[in-house]
Amino acid sequence: MPRDDYFVGIDVGTDKIVCLIGKMGEIEEINIVGMGKAPSRGVKAGSIVDLDAVSEDIMIAINEAEMMASVKVEEALVSISGAQIKSVNSSGTITVSGKEKITENEIEKVLQQTREFSMPKDRDILHLVPQEYKLDSQEGIVNPIGMSGHKLDGKVHIITALKASINNLMTCVNKAGVEVKGIVPSFIAAAETILNHDEKELGVGLIDIGKGTTDMAFYENGSIWNSFVIPVGGYYFTSDIAIGLMTSIGEAEKIKRKDGTVIVPEDSANRTITFSTSKGDKEKTIPIDILVDILNPRAKEILGIIKDSLKQQNVFDRMNSGIVITGGTANLQGFTDVAEEIFGIPARVGKPGKNLEGLAERVSHPEYSVAVGLLFMASREENGRRGFKKKGVWGILKGLIDKF
Ligand SMILES: Nc1ncnc2c1ncn2[C@@H]1O[C@H](COP(=O)(O)OP(=O)(O)OP(=O)(O)O)[C@@H](O)[C@H]1O
Ligand SMILES: [Mg+2]
Repeated sequence: MPRDDYFVGIDVGTDKIVCLIGKMGEIEEINIVGMGKAPSRGVKAGSIVDLDAVSEDIMIAINEAEMMASVKVEEALVSISGAQIKSVNSSGTITVSGKEKITENEIEKVLQQTREFSMPKDRDILHLVPQEYKLDSQEGIVNPIGMSGHKLDGKVHIITALKASINNLMTCVNKAGVEVKGIVPSFIAAAETILNHDEKELGVGLIDIGKGTTDMAFYENGSIWNSFVIPVGGYYFTSDIAIGLMTSIGEAEKIKRKDGTVIVPEDSANRTITFSTSKGDKEKTIPIDILVDILNPRAKEILGIIKDSLKQQNVFDRMNSGIVITGGTANLQGFTDVAEEIFGIPARVGKPGKNLEGLAERVSHPEYSVAVGLLFMASREENGRRGFKKKGVWGILKGLIDKF
């Protein structure tokens, strides 16, 4: 693959592994030219539990995407999740001459300082996002390059992961024959494609509910201030259906994806669902309301846990633009209605759609937010390399990854 023309994102999830291949579009920003997907067999609650299975699944997803795009994948940006991801806010200060203007050099020095916080030895910094700078007494500076002053402070959000988890992920991708260009926390990638400028300025909560993890991030004044991952997800709804309707996990998953709703639908009077029970192949038909009775309490419970977590982080009252829910579980009908009831603020489903060409339709679903976000990040890096745009935070992450 001509490295400069194509970029690749691989989302390694608990439910599925997705590989997307993109290139710069004619009109819109990204043209998705290849897509491959494999059920994920070696990931539990976001963490890799079987290296061979994960690398095989990654390979299946890559091969499918390669065939579609007619290119060979050599390197990719890869997502990481799991409750092992931890984040902190940190800051750094340097003195500057006052005569000279601030350059990238000073920025790098101040960012270097922000990395000096106590971190357990088994962790590594995965991602570092500058939030704002202060030059002497002027606060809230987004980019101090070209300004002059005596004291430069920088605030950052740092996301760390267990070294073992990073190594496992790198091993799996390498075993699939692909170089890791960088590892990105899932929520950072999802935010790239589903949050808009105003939401990030006014205060918004991003909630990515997958199969085994819920990733959360809070943005305000254009920056990320809090992020964390909890081990709950859509799997609970599936097992509730299996238990409640006495059917298999596979059948429960089918019922959920086809008819899953957490509120009584308007046409409920004429709606029934038919499925095979676990007792042989006997089929059973029930009114849709019974499914709602199973799924609604679980939705309330999970959203209640998420609300409590956001309260603990002291961000709940600052989400002035509400919450954006993404990930496969956001497909459950009525999920945002229940979220609005529990949170008392506006909620919407976040899915990719803007600035896409090619397979745009196919990826315009909440379960592809992370993979599409990875493509946007990878494309920016390509532009940076070619000198189209200024190099951003991504350069820092790449530097960290190069250590492995
Ligand atoms: N149409 C649908 N209706 C209801 N639930 C759905 C639908 N489609 C997918 N899901 C659920 O979404 C979950 C998968 O979401 P997603 O693809 O975002 O997960 P993942 O990224 O692989 O996993 P994780 O983020 O937890 O590691 C599964 O529990 C699946 O049952
Ligand atoms: Mg996910």
